[in-house]
Amino acid sequence: MERAEALQAFESAFGGQAEDLFTAAGRINVIGEHVDYCGGKVFPAALNLRCNIYGKKTGANVIRLAFRGIDGVVELDMSKLGEYRGLKIGNYQAGVAYFMQEKGVRLVGCDLYYDCTVPFGSGLSSSAAIEVATAVALYEYAGVAYDKVEVALLSQKAENKYAGVNCGIMDQFASAMGKKDHAVLLDCSTLEYEYVPLKLGDYCLVVANCNKPHNLVESKYNVRRQEVETALKTIQTVKNVSCLAELTPKDFAEVKYLLSGVVAKRAEHVVMECDRVNRAVQALKDGDLVELGKLLNESHYSLRDLYEVTGKELDTLSALARKEAECLGSRMIGAGFGGCTISIVKKTAVEGFIRRVGKAYVETIGYKASFYETSIEDGITVEKL
Ligand code: GLA
Repeated sequence: MERAEALQAFESAFGGQAEDLFTAAGRINVIGEHVDYCGGKVFPAALNLRCNIYGKKTGANVIRLAFRGIDGVVELDMSKLGEYRGLKIGNYQAGVAYFMQEKGVRLVGCDLYYDCTVPFGSGLSSSAAIEVATAVALYEYAGVAYDKVEVALLSQKAENKYAGVNCGIMDQFASAMGKKDHAVLLDCSTLEYEYVPLKLGDYCLVVANCNKPHNLVESKYNVRRQEVETALKTIQTVKNVSCLAELTPKDFAEVKYLLSGVVAKRAEHVVMECDRVNRAVQALKDGDLVELGKLLNESHYSLRDLYEVTGKELDTLSALARKEAECLGSRMIGAGFGGCTISIVKKTAVEGFIRRVGKAYVETIGYKASFYETSIEDGITVEKL
């Protein structure tokens, strides 16, 4: 949506003019999937696909929300912020506002118009982008100084404790802290981070959405979390570790006999994926894109066979990508069960890649995949209009 159109939509929803634009990013994750809540390192990057909020301070006791493509206005009464958990639209915003209030921030009423260009349910973290952008808007209007890492943590809390999805910190951190043309190597147990230039030379990342209809992702995600918790507790009976990510592949081989069935598979994925993150970052720093591509493929196979979060659609989409001569590697990103893949593709071959993979995908699955033009951008932005 063009800015002029969004400003017009703001005016029709609320009357009056928007005064500020707050944005936060959707994200990809180069590698390090389903390890953030196990204390592992992840390697996400913020996208040009974003949650844009056009805002205006009103000073009333209400936060009013309106959304592109949805009629009507949602009102959040600031004296009852605990009561909006059941909202289909507006619960992320209510959760963020609720926990800010709990921290002692004196919220100031405002009108917020959402133009979110991160496709919903795509594994590109539309929810994190909404939470982070909302927190920034509310902090700015409250006139309270904030720290971006704190914004990420507060947003994660809203998602965990208000929306009921037990996610890790990766998405909110990337959405808030992302940096143009860099990926963020984030240690999720300490929140130490390093920006690494995402330099792919003649290659680029192609983001593709398998468009599988959303299906119980949150509940399946929460089950995976319980499985790795069980693995950790069992391993802790013989080894002094505080999270699965502390185990090297060699450590894990020594304790694997303690685990069985799916719990063993889940833990093996986590340990091996953590090892792949280190190798992938090194490969990128060395400019060894062939090695990086191989690690992306291995990550996908592990998410398919050990963690079991891919499904036919993501497997098909990434397998078709891998068949392409100019593609170095491909894998699903995010929680899985649907959503997106990333593929490393030669820039000059992207057009043909999208055409062929898109055609073969629709022939196999019966509906289309979507391909996005993406670039790596900053996380949060704040602008006076
Ligand atoms: C979702 C969660 C993240 C992370 C990924 C899987 O995107 O929100 O915290 O666990 O899944 O890596």
